[in-house]
Amino acid sequence: MSEPAANPTPSPELNLTPAQPESGRDSTIVAEEIRMISDPRGQVAEQFRSLRNSITALNPDGAPRTLAITSAIAGEGKSVAAVNLAIAMAELPGKEILLVDANLHNPSLEHYMGQAQHQGFADVLRGGCSLDAALRPTCVDGLALMGAGSLPENPSKLLGSDRTRVVLNTLKQRFSYVLIDTPDALSISDASMIGALADGTLLVVRMGFTARSLVEQTYNQLETLGGNVLGTCLTGGDQVQHTGGVSNS
Ligand SMILES: Nc1ncnc2c1ncn2[C@@H]1O[C@H](COP(=O)(O)OP(=O)(O)O)[C@@H](O)[C@H]1O
Ligand SMILES: [Mg+2]
Repeated sequence: MSEPAANPTPSPELNLTPAQPESGRDSTIVAEEIRMISDPRGQVAEQFRSLRNSITALNPDGAPRTLAITSAIAGEGKSVAAVNLAIAMAELPGKEILLVDANLHNPSLEHYMGQAQHQGFADVLRGGCSLDAALRPTCVDGLALMGAGSLPENPSKLLGSDRTRVVLNTLKQRFSYVLIDTPDALSISDASMIGALADGTLLVVRMGFTARSLVEQTYNQLETLGGNVLGTCLTGGDQVQHTGGVSNS
């Protein structure tokens, strides 16, 4: 399969396509690790609400925010954290939250949200799909989803186009918060690229799984390439913790 050329031209038509029939509202989240649904009064859910409060406290004027979510290596729990945090954010009255799957190597948000694969982010970046066709409601009020779409052969090339910035800026105008799930940052450059475009980056670290030196290396890489690392989300076992900063020493 050859990859269609990325369209670098900003598209003023992004918003003009009529909304598609809703297709996610009736879906159900069954993944046990989405504790905001499976155990909404439990400790992990409360920790995600606390993380949400820390992030929103950084932004008291309520301006739109884009937040990239990454980790040093795969399997640290960033997609699970992204979904839980998005659900916690959607609990805030009057806020419209969007989850975007920008992991064009190994997408999983549709899986965790209990939804079928659909047109998504990669299709929008190629110019083959309008934003409205790629946006879906979910079973969580106030939370919309944009899946990864059909995967490109060269994700970095597609994400590196000017259109990525245009699309993210357009989404930022339409939602209170846009949470962007990305691949692991050390082996794939995509997360650093998205991090540089986002207002902030959240670094997910699985306790007892990732060497501290790798976390520090990831932090340095994200910051060097223009990212603004807001803090870490420590996952593992039955708990989630967060910090306002990452030790760089
Ligand atoms: N808080 C959690 N509780 C239980 N299992 C989790 C948790 N976070 C992640 N996992 C599990 O760890 C694996 C990787 O999680 P995932 O979020 O997909 O990682 P990543 O996106 O970083 O590659 C999955 O099997 C997921 O079910
Ligand atoms: Mg993932």
